[in-house]
Amino acid sequence: MNVDGRENVFPKDFAWGAATAAYQIEGGWDADGKSPSIWDTFCHGKGVVFQDQNGDVACNSYKLWQEDLRCIQQLGLTHYRLSLSWSRLLPDGTTRHINQKGVSYYNKVINDLLASNVTPMVTLYHFDLPQVLQDQGGWKWAGIADVFAGYAAFCFETFGDRVKLWVTLNEPYVCAKLGHEDGLFAPGLRDPGVSAYLAGHNMLRAHARAWHGYDALFRPRQKGLVSLALNSDWAEPRDPGSPQEVAATERYMAFTFGWFASPVFMTGDYPATMRSRIEARSLELGFPADRLPGFAEGEPRVLGTADFFALNYYTSRRVKAVSCPSGALSFKGDQEAEGVVDPSWPVSGVPWLAVVPDGLRKLLNYIKDTCHNPSIYITENGFAQMGPVDLEDSQRCGFYRDTLLEVSKAIHEDGVDVRGYFAWSLLDNFEWADGFSVRFGLFHVDRAHPELTRTIYHSGRNYAKIILRNACPSTTQS
Ligand code: BGC
Repeated sequence: MNVDGRENVFPKDFAWGAATAAYQIEGGWDADGKSPSIWDTFCHGKGVVFQDQNGDVACNSYKLWQEDLRCIQQLGLTHYRLSLSWSRLLPDGTTRHINQKGVSYYNKVINDLLASNVTPMVTLYHFDLPQVLQDQGGWKWAGIADVFAGYAAFCFETFGDRVKLWVTLNEPYVCAKLGHEDGLFAPGLRDPGVSAYLAGHNMLRAHARAWHGYDALFRPRQKGLVSLALNSDWAEPRDPGSPQEVAATERYMAFTFGWFASPVFMTGDYPATMRSRIEARSLELGFPADRLPGFAEGEPRVLGTADFFALNYYTSRRVKAVSCPSGALSFKGDQEAEGVVDPSWPVSGVPWLAVVPDGLRKLLNYIKDTCHNPSIYITENGFAQMGPVDLEDSQRCGFYRDTLLEVSKAIHEDGVDVRGYFAWSLLDNFEWADGFSVRFGLFHVDRAHPELTRTIYHSGRNYAKIILRNACPSTTQS
C-alpha cells in the first residue's frame, strides 16, 4: 500500500505509541509513602550499575508528569505505555495497605492521557518487585502468584474503568534470566541453571491468575484486554546448511521465545526441547530435582491467558551450537546454543543491539504461524545512543524508518495482524545496569539541568510526522 509510490500507509486506528517504565523514569523512590523495590535495593549497592547510578531521581516523572505529557502531545501519540510501581501503590506488596498518594498520581496520569485523547496501555510489573516481597523469596516463592493476582485485581478495580489495555508482566525472560541466573539485574541472584526456571514459572503462574481474575470479574463490565510482554530476538543459523546450527537455532528460539510463548500461546507447557534438554543435562550432572517445574493439575490454566500478543523486539542473532562440557549447571549449558552478531549488521550505541529491521518482520510472521495468528502490539522497539548526545540522531531516524517499513510489509504483504507500535522510549531514562550512559529516548533529558529539561531529538520529530500521516516514507525524511 503505497501513497504516490512513496509512503507506506498503516491501517486505520493503528496505535502509535511510546513506552516507559516506572523505575526508569519516575524517581521519587521514597516519596509519599512508597516503599523500596528490588531495583532501589540493587542500585543502592555498590558496583552493580554503571558509575553506581540509580533511579532515585531518574527523569523525576513523579514530579514532572506534565512535562512528559507535553512530550506525548508533541509527538501526537495515540497511545502511551507506562508501568505502575507496585511498591508505590501497595507499600507492603499487598492490599492490606493502600497508598492513596500513589493511587492519586496514577489517576492523574491516566486522566490526563484520556483528556488528551491518548489511550493508556498499563504494565503492572516492569522489573520492580517490592523489596518486602523479595524478602519472602520474591519470584522463587510459590506464594508470589497469589500476591501478584491480588495486586493485579486491585489495579483493575482502581483504574480499569479507564484502562482497557493491560500488560501483566514485562519480559519475564529478562527478569528471570538476568535477575536470577546472571545476577546482572535485580535481585542480582547468580544461581545458574536453577533459579531462573523457577522464577519464570512463578511469573507464568502469577500472570495466569491475574488474567483469570480479569476475565471472570472485570472483563464483563470493563471490556479490556490483558496480555504479557514477551521479548525475543529473531534467530537464524550462522550457516543454514549446517544441521547442527539449524538445531541450535531451534533450541535458541525455544529457550527465549518459546519459554514463555509456548505455555501461554501454543501448548500450555514449555517447549519439548527445553524439557528434554534440561532433563538430560540434570541426569548427566547428577542433579536430583526437576529444574523445570511442571504445570500442576488444579492450578489455573496458563494456555490462552493472553488477549493479544505483546512483543518487545530489539535485535536478531545468528546462532552457533556450543557445548558446555564443564560440570556446572547453566542455562547456556542446557540451551547448547549461542547467538552472535552478524558482522555485516550495523550496531547501535550498545554492542548487543545490532540493527536488523527485517528480523522483526520475520519474527512477526513466526508469531503468526506458531501462535495461531494473534493480534499483535509491538510494545517495545528502539535504538540506543551512547557517548556524546546527538540531537540530530540520523542513525536512529533511519532505524525507525527501516523498522516501520518492515512492519508495514508484515501487515500488507504477509497479513500479520499488527495493531500498534510503541517506540522505546519516550525519554532518555535509567537504562538498568547501564545507568544513564545509554539513551533510548525520542526526547533527550538533560541531566545536568536542575529541571531535567526534555528536548526532542530529530527522530522524535520524524516519528511525529509518521504518526500524523499514519504512514512512513520509503526514503529518507528531512
Ligand atoms: C526493557 C526496557 C529496556 C529496554 C532497552 C527492554 O528489555 O523492557 O526496560 O530499557 O529493553 O534495553
